[in-house]
Amino acid sequence: MTACDFQPGLEGIPAAQSQVSFVNGQVGKLEYRGVPIEALAEKSNFLETAYLLIWGEFPNADDLEAFQEEITHHRRVKYRIRDMMKCFPESGHPMDALQASAAALGLFYSKRALDDPTYIRQAVVRLLAKIPTMVAAFEHIRKGNDPVRPRDDLSYAANFLYMLNEQEPDPFLSHVFDTCLILHAEHTMNASTFSARVTASTLTDPYAIVASAVGTLAGPLHGGANEEVITMLAEIGSVENVRPFLAEKLATKSKIMGFGHRVYKVKDPRAKILQKLVEKLFARSDNDPSYEIALELEKAVAEKLGGKGIYPNVDFYSGLVYQKLGIPTDLFTPIFAIARVAGWLAHWREQLETNRIYRPSQVYIGEHGLPYIPPEHR
Ligand code: SDX
Repeated sequence: MTACDFQPGLEGIPAAQSQVSFVNGQVGKLEYRGVPIEALAEKSNFLETAYLLIWGEFPNADDLEAFQEEITHHRRVKYRIRDMMKCFPESGHPMDALQASAAALGLFYSKRALDDPTYIRQAVVRLLAKIPTMVAAFEHIRKGNDPVRPRDDLSYAANFLYMLNEQEPDPFLSHVFDTCLILHAEHTMNASTFSARVTASTLTDPYAIVASAVGTLAGPLHGGANEEVITMLAEIGSVENVRPFLAEKLATKSKIMGFGHRVYKVKDPRAKILQKLVEKLFARSDNDPSYEIALELEKAVAEKLGGKGIYPNVDFYSGLVYQKLGIPTDLFTPIFAIARVAGWLAHWREQLETNRIYRPSQVYIGEHGLPYIPPEHR
């Protein structure tokens, strides 16, 4: 292995063969199991899309109903996990709370019967069902309140918004949120999915895999960008300040949150769909300048960085949607995790089919044969 073989960040290096999803970054195409994201966003719902991703085919009506019922039945979380959350500092980030509680699930369901289809399905159902409940629970616990119990009569998306706000959500807002979950469910070999596959390749349990992926997603260069975008738009404050703000960022070689992508060199197709949702939501609301600022920033960045293939990614508009849904900013990335659990679980199952533990090599650039230096001579 020579230095010329080394590719920082494994850019462009295939780490797996996969059928879960496909991206063409030059034309802005994304497909889940061969189905264009545009069709799924328009016609499907998150649990049906999760089933497609994880099991590789659309469920028939009975299978979908059974899947939805199982997930509804498993939404509740052990009281001991809720009690554990009460020991977390209220100032802690919800992604850290989610990572800790996802790993804690493994304490209750740790059996690693990876060759047992029933175990696999139970783990899929429990993680899809309980992750939203844990995200919503910490939101209340960190404020000193009791969590809101899940409601079995509400859809997956509506139940999450209910557990968060303790109000039955407007059906349009539930639909918008469900569409966001579809758009964030899967995206080939991104950092957190790669993390999931590496962890899965050691044959550990799915709860440890999800905890590992949550930790990876939390970073501002990955899933954490959506929270940063809202902070950035607030800092810009007005359309007139967009270009001065951008000039300063570029002068200091700072990254503009919500822009750029390792694969997409055109506007992220998910950003296009999210932008349509933002337009609908902002049409219903008061004169909030955030969307106008975002549009002006998109235009300005295209002028300055479009030549380098830097355009809005999935995180640029998602935050504006969540803000209009009344979701606290630091829950944006946990919501990304709620959706991406579907993709991580799909890749877990696929990794198990032809598993070989990940163990890449390295290019050693250190020294050899150095002597031990005793403390008194250092
Ligand atoms: C997600 O991989 C996935 O699929 C991820 C994701 C998913 O669904 O899982 O799509 C979700 O993580 C979206 C990305 C969210 N992150 C951000 O919005 C943070 C800002 N973006 C950048 O940090 C960056 O664009 C990355 C991390 C997303 C991609 O970085 P790359 O591919 O490593 O690109 P790079 O850092 O090598 O940049 C190449 C050039 C550099 O300029 P030069 O030094 O060559 O002159 O483009 C510039 C960078 O400075 N650049 C940016 C920029 N992104 C790249 N300049 C300003 N602002 C940016 N956002």
